[in-house]
Amino acid sequence: MTSQDYMKKEDQYGAHNYHPLPVVLERGEGIFVWDVEGKRYFDFLSAYSAVNQGHCHPKIVKALTDQASKLALTSRAFYNNCLGEYEEYITKYFGYDKVLPMNSGAEGDETALKLCRRWAYDKKGIAENQAKIIVCEGNFHGRTITIISMSTDPDSFKGFGPYTPGFVVVPYNDIDALKKALEDPNVAGFLVEPIQGEAGVYVPEDGYLKKAYDLCKQKNVLFIADEVQTGLARTGKMLACDHEGVRPDILILGKALSGGMYPISAVLANDDIMLNIKPGEHGSTFGGNPVAAKVAISALQVLKDEKLTENADKLGKIFRAELQKLVGKNPMVELVRGKGLLNAVVIKPTNGKKAWDVCLAMKENGLIAKPTHEHIIRFAPPLVINEAQMMEAIGIIKKTLEQMI
Ligand SMILES: Cc1ncc(COP(=O)(O)O)c(C=O)c1O
Repeated sequence: MTSQDYMKKEDQYGAHNYHPLPVVLERGEGIFVWDVEGKRYFDFLSAYSAVNQGHCHPKIVKALTDQASKLALTSRAFYNNCLGEYEEYITKYFGYDKVLPMNSGAEGDETALKLCRRWAYDKKGIAENQAKIIVCEGNFHGRTITIISMSTDPDSFKGFGPYTPGFVVVPYNDIDALKKALEDPNVAGFLVEPIQGEAGVYVPEDGYLKKAYDLCKQKNVLFIADEVQTGLARTGKMLACDHEGVRPDILILGKALSGGMYPISAVLANDDIMLNIKPGEHGSTFGGNPVAAKVAISALQVLKDEKLTENADKLGKIFRAELQKLVGKNPMVELVRGKGLLNAVVIKPTNGKKAWDVCLAMKENGLIAKPTHEHIIRFAPPLVINEAQMMEAIGIIKKTLEQMI
């Protein structure tokens, strides 16, 4: 079968809820993927930052296959001999009392919202059903009904109502707006992405997260960080909140928690928040299964062993400096922004060519990335990329942008 055949099959039998770049991948290793015709590409999306450790990392593959051939799933109806080890490992790794394991990022966010509401009633003393959670304009936390109820993007929410109540939207990166919203005594939490990834890699002003955290503390409101995309070394620190020394009351992780091997998410919090949820009140058949436990330990260990935070920081600076040189020189390059290896280039449509056309042309030249919204291209390679590879990839991006004008 050719690429065309595979694409036709997906189109015919699969729901049309994605608009993929026309490339059919069959193999991956480190920072590279290969299509079914054998062509190699630099992967500059990393499955939306799930593959921080690189494709098919041998240590993570081994953790997966060893455990899968021994015991894969018990459900939480019984104990298993891997979960406790993982829970101890991840809570010590991030410095929290407890973890609640789930699968997708969206489930992680849902879990955090439930924890926050329960804390509001059991600990803060908000009257039943009155708790509010502040969220930000432009947020992306997943695709469930409750999560799209918080969304300000019509593509996400339109046509799926009625929506879940209890959310207050404030502009992102606006401390005064947050301060005002926090005046409401029924506010229980503030849910924020330290950098808005899906919205187009919006980096807030330095100090925003710290000020927001301090305001939350003044009002006894939980600071909830969705680090599903920004966490796990992606932005040049283990957590993006670390850039400002902020320790969230509730931390949500996903994606790279498995190195892309398996859907694993986690919510971390201290006992005061976590122990309000009692047996039978929340859970998931697959959350905390033995394979996930082993894979997550391995994926977290690789981040430290291979110093991926340091690498993301160093190579991110090179990436932005090199692409910045095109601003004012290439009319298509409007702006470059990001932190670590989570970066975006804002494209100015030129000669009828848009970000999508740039991505198609980059694919022809051997690098794959995807537009987010119409004019923004996110560049987020696996964090195992080295300097020579980065320079080669930058060469492809520059060459492509030149070809477009
Ligand atoms: C910040 C953030 N939260 C949550 C999610 C949802 O994760 P999942 O697709 O695993 O449900 C995403 C996915 O892109 C995300 O970027």
